[in-house]
Amino acid sequence: MSKGTFYITTPIYYPSSKLHIGNAYCTVATDVMARYKRMSGYDVMFLTGTDEHGVKIGENARAAGITPQEFVDRIVEGQGGIVELWKLMNISNDRFIRTTDDYHKSAIQRIFKALYDRDEIYKGTYKGLYCTPCESFWTETQLVDGKCPDCGREVKHAEEEAYFFRLSKYGEKLTALLQSGYLEPRSRVNEMINNFIRPGLEDLCVSRTTITWGVPVDFDPGHVVYVWVDALFNYMTALGFENDRYDDMRFWPADLHIVGKEIVRFHSIIWPAFLMALDLPLPKKVFGHGWLVFGGEKISKSRSQGKSVIDPLILAPRYGADALRYYLLRSFPFGSDGDFTNELLVSRINSDLANDLGNLVSRTVAMAEKYFGGSLPDTRESGEFDSGLIEIASKLPEIYETYMEKLAFHNALAEINRLTARANKYIDETMPWALARDEANTARLAAVLYNLLESVRVTAVLLSPFMPESSAAMLTQLGVEENRRTWESVQSFGGGDYKNVTRGETLFPRIDIDREMLELAEIINEATR
Ligand code: MSP
Repeated sequence: MSKGTFYITTPIYYPSSKLHIGNAYCTVATDVMARYKRMSGYDVMFLTGTDEHGVKIGENARAAGITPQEFVDRIVEGQGGIVELWKLMNISNDRFIRTTDDYHKSAIQRIFKALYDRDEIYKGTYKGLYCTPCESFWTETQLVDGKCPDCGREVKHAEEEAYFFRLSKYGEKLTALLQSGYLEPRSRVNEMINNFIRPGLEDLCVSRTTITWGVPVDFDPGHVVYVWVDALFNYMTALGFENDRYDDMRFWPADLHIVGKEIVRFHSIIWPAFLMALDLPLPKKVFGHGWLVFGGEKISKSRSQGKSVIDPLILAPRYGADALRYYLLRSFPFGSDGDFTNELLVSRINSDLANDLGNLVSRTVAMAEKYFGGSLPDTRESGEFDSGLIEIASKLPEIYETYMEKLAFHNALAEINRLTARANKYIDETMPWALARDEANTARLAAVLYNLLESVRVTAVLLSPFMPESSAAMLTQLGVEENRRTWESVQSFGGGDYKNVTRGETLFPRIDIDREMLELAEIINEATR
């Protein structure tokens, strides 16, 4: 029975150039949450996509000597493009929106007109400072050292006739919204209120006359809709808002928008204000995650540091998407910045996956085969050490759920690892190989292996949102049917039996770290040459 709908989104990515591991981090996290919600019984809609308009993309296309549409088509759907990357990373999105899709563009025109008709948008003259790469207007006071507060780059003076959205009138309502738990982590709430709302919100410029690559304002030729209006409404047009392409508005309001911290402002101030202006229901939650940094700098499309960080299109096939997904979410608390290093990636794969988890699975399965031909007898005798292991395994789903609901992925994984470690210790404590020497111990040996197989099963099910392929491979080795691969089935320990345990391929081969570092250095050299 469904627990109801759950609508979750990633930001839509700028296809101004290829995506990097920082973008993958955001999408993987959203995918994990979507898979977790599906597993726990929700009717999930998971949306991702691309934000294809704007100055930057127009410029890049010109530099490449092709039309903007050709340019974005290549980056989105071409070889090594975004769609391919998400496939490779095992992203389970239900829908993919491109803001150049016709249904979206015409919906944006209708939305813009509706805002204008309600007098939420008016015509005026824009004078101010503009950061081209961020597509953001700033006031003098918002600049940091005279530069864009988001990216630290130069801003330039701009003056033009433009439409403005009456953002300034929403300060109070937005403060109340932010204080109500709309935005997480909580630490970002004060930042929004103190830096943006308290100094006074200014009306927002929502059209441009100097650019052509965007959605035209249909009732005023020459004006193009500001890219963030175009972008933010993707979350609704992809469900069918103001268009006939889809009919899924039952998923609105969104349950969770996952966004990087630099675009929290757009999602927690501008986006709800637009919705308030149209009297539409507001999303339930926005979560602003931290950045992957490399040598202290944000990994980004435009900064050169990006080149020293290896392309996820290379990393995923090299280590397996599951291992990469695991590394990203186990290593860094989701709300904070995390320092990406290749050493940490490889050493985590070795320690957590190859040594601890991989060993537990292979030892357990091998022993079930060796001592019982893969089919455990029904007579089992409990004994010393069982309760310690069973207690951890029994309590794990609830603890895991608490962390997952808070998007504390690294904690959820750490708890799973505690069970793995406990199960490995249980093997040392119970010494199945010693029990196997005497037939009188058969029932005890069966119980030990049963408890281990159950622990592996619980582990595999809870890991499934993070490592879908490895989890399925583990459950196949255990020989368990669909009904024992479910969230409900891990709410209690024991109950089923193990009659068809079969060894499979090594899940996570150990990596020779020294050799690997040399090879990765070579890949970086090639990329930066
Ligand atoms: N197009 C806008 C979003 C519009 S949403 C209505 C945009 N695109 S982006 O391609 O620049 O960034 C997309 C997402 O990738 C953002 O959430 C951003 O935080 C995330 N990341 C980009 N670099 C990142 C890291 N180095 N680390 C983690 N996430 C990063 O903004």
